[in-house]
Amino acid sequence: ALITMRQLLDHAAENDYALPAFNVNNLEYVQAVMRAADATDSPVILQASRGARSYAGDAFLRHLILGAAEEYPHIPVCLHLDHGDQPSTCISAITNGFTSVMMDGSLLADGKSIASYEYNVDVTAEVVKIAHAAGVSVEGELGCLGNLETGAGEKEDGHGFEGKLTREELLTDPDQALDFVSKTGVDALAVAIGTSHGAYKFTRAPDGDILSIETIAKINKKLPNTHLVMHGSSSVPQDLQDLFTAYGGEMKQTWGVPVAEIQKAIPLGVRKVNIDTDLRLAMTGTIRKNFKEKPDNFDPRTYLKPATARMQDVCRERFEAFRTAGKA
Ligand code: G3H
Ligand code: 13P
Ligand code: ZN
Repeated sequence: ALITMRQLLDHAAENDYALPAFNVNNLEYVQAVMRAADATDSPVILQASRGARSYAGDAFLRHLILGAAEEYPHIPVCLHLDHGDQPSTCISAITNGFTSVMMDGSLLADGKSIASYEYNVDVTAEVVKIAHAAGVSVEGELGCLGNLETGAGEKEDGHGFEGKLTREELLTDPDQALDFVSKTGVDALAVAIGTSHGAYKFTRAPDGDILSIETIAKINKKLPNTHLVMHGSSSVPQDLQDLFTAYGGEMKQTWGVPVAEIQKAIPLGVRKVNIDTDLRLAMTGTIRKNFKEKPDNFDPRTYLKPATARMQDVCRERFEAFRTAGKA
């Protein structure tokens, strides 16, 4: 059986570690995460975005995750909705077996316009009421993910916020965070600290000016008992960029969130760390390499197997780095 995110994050807080939350879209992603979790004895958060749900279909997703739980009965598994855009999206996830949902009310349901604080409180509180009645956990988001170098806002589900954001808008306000958590009753809070989704997070190795771990410290002072969530937390490691570009992939040099910075955030209350891009790069880079090296091959298993193994390596590294390993 699946367990809730709240159970996993409470255990993480009690034992001072964090869980990577991996975005999954198909069988190979699920196998990669579960094999790494099995090898390192780690609890698991598998998350599906609206894009993943429409790609795979809720029934396939649900049974994939139930299959994972059956295959690895000793590993606690949570199925989480990533970036629910409105209450109805969260409700349909709950109906389809998700044990945790994110209501992202930082943007309006169009995915483009910044929502008012009152709107965010209202939709999030509404989801908390429904989800908690069903025994499901809720993650909320306060503040806009985006780049502190350029002021460009977050990209959610392929939509981009148009226009420039100020430093204030791009960093979660600690006093507002305190108010938000008390008004909504969320189990976990996603905060904005200068990270953004996708490969292009920073144009240089990030320092405190563009990746604000200090903001997490300030929020943690106000909310010492709230589980914090980091989005846009792929590290976009150089070896994965090189693997992708070595076999014809086009990507300009970029920087992600260094694992060492995430490690600094764990004692400051970060319990869930979202990772999607690193797995995409691992899978696609490996497939590119196999296509190049074996142009006569057309059995998908022969390139999906090493691609899954490369994703599994990424998962294992994160389980170890966030001290999730050994906590299942
Ligand atoms: O929110 C961003 C995640 O990386 C999911 O991306 O909406 O393309 O599945 P997606
Ligand atoms: P990345 O694009 O950095 O992997 O972020 C994933 C994420 O935040 C999903 O919600
Ligand atoms: Zn996200």
